[in-house]
Amino acid sequence: MKIGIIGYGYWGTNLVRNFSVQDGCQLAVVADSRTERLDIIKKNYPSVRTTTNADDVFNDTTIDAVVIATPVFTHFELAKKALEHDKHVLVEKPITSSSAEAQTLIDLSVKKNKVLMVDHTFLYTGAVQKMKQLVDSGDIGKVNYFDSTRINLGLFQQDVNVLWDLAPHDISILTYLINEKPVSINATGISHTKNEIENIAYMTVNFQSDLVAHFNCSWSSPVKIRMTLVGGDKKMIVFNDMEPTEKVKVYDTGYSVKTMEEKQRLLIDYRAGDIFIPKLQTSEALSLMAKDFISAITKGTKPVSDCYLGLEVVKILEGAQKSIKQKGKEILL
Ligand SMILES: NC(=O)c1ccc[n+]([C@@H]2O[C@H](COP(=O)([O-])OP(=O)(O)OC[C@H]3O[C@@H](n4cnc5c(N)ncnc54)[C@H](O)[C@@H]3O)[C@@H](O)[C@H]2O)c1
Repeated sequence: MKIGIIGYGYWGTNLVRNFSVQDGCQLAVVADSRTERLDIIKKNYPSVRTTTNADDVFNDTTIDAVVIATPVFTHFELAKKALEHDKHVLVEKPITSSSAEAQTLIDLSVKKNKVLMVDHTFLYTGAVQKMKQLVDSGDIGKVNYFDSTRINLGLFQQDVNVLWDLAPHDISILTYLINEKPVSINATGISHTKNEIENIAYMTVNFQSDLVAHFNCSWSSPVKIRMTLVGGDKKMIVFNDMEPTEKVKVYDTGYSVKTMEEKQRLLIDYRAGDIFIPKLQTSEALSLMAKDFISAITKGTKPVSDCYLGLEVVKILEGAQKSIKQKGKEILL
């Protein structure tokens, strides 16, 4: 199977490195509109063809699959063209800039019978795989809340706000871990620059049940925090991605509530037990993601990070954007 990669910028570099060594595929061509980027490919991967024109990749009938690692606003047109030329497609996160575009790509991939997958890399990390096991096995009980903080002194983007930049990671983790679909969103955000692109945003995702998910994203924090809490009614998970090794800790912590009916008072019994640090798989997430794409094409397996999950992520981002522009109004999904 021959693969072409479009976009050899920051993230494309990691994709080229991973796809160039995968079994079951040959990285045949890399396209980037900047010739200086292609010079690096020529030097480091002499057997890989290069082109400044993505159409060369689409028109090459020997190419079976295309990986798209260009800026978000270009994803839709490039992925659509690739599918129209009968290629399997892996597109960087978020899949598109709107849910309508994502749905169009999904319909086209079904019609063409081609794999359409999104690179939500976090889903392939040892930490998130372990969290999925802990949730699915019932070890932590019924999930009551999901709370994520992704803040640092970040690079202010010119085209997307802080939620579109940072939250796709956390929303993909939420969507992967929780089988229930969200019903509505409230979000607020603020821009401290003249371009009205929010650099701080807070989003709450509401569900039919009493589960709640909250996201705090910022490019304006003096400290870097990458922390997700998943609170079950039996145990609670803390995923601290800044920890070099012990990223996931499971707290045997909880509480039980009794109501004194005559006085309508709550009696809370607290429990603080052991803390367990599970062993995590250490393979590079991006390599596992590349394997998942190849397997979906060659064996017909269902990818972890499929296009339907990609669509859910964009729906939530879109809802949040609407809510921010209406000062936090609840937006039904
Ligand atoms: N999965 C992750 O964890 C992760 C991390 C970072 C970025 N990303 C995603 O990767 C994508 C790219 O981000 P980046 O930070 O690498 O951007 P970047 O600007 O560093 O690289 C994009 C590259 O695409 C090239 N390009 C743009 N339009 C093109 C076209 N039509 N044809 C050929 N080349 C074109 C540019 O010249 C540039 O080299 C984005 O969608 C981003 O969200 C994902």
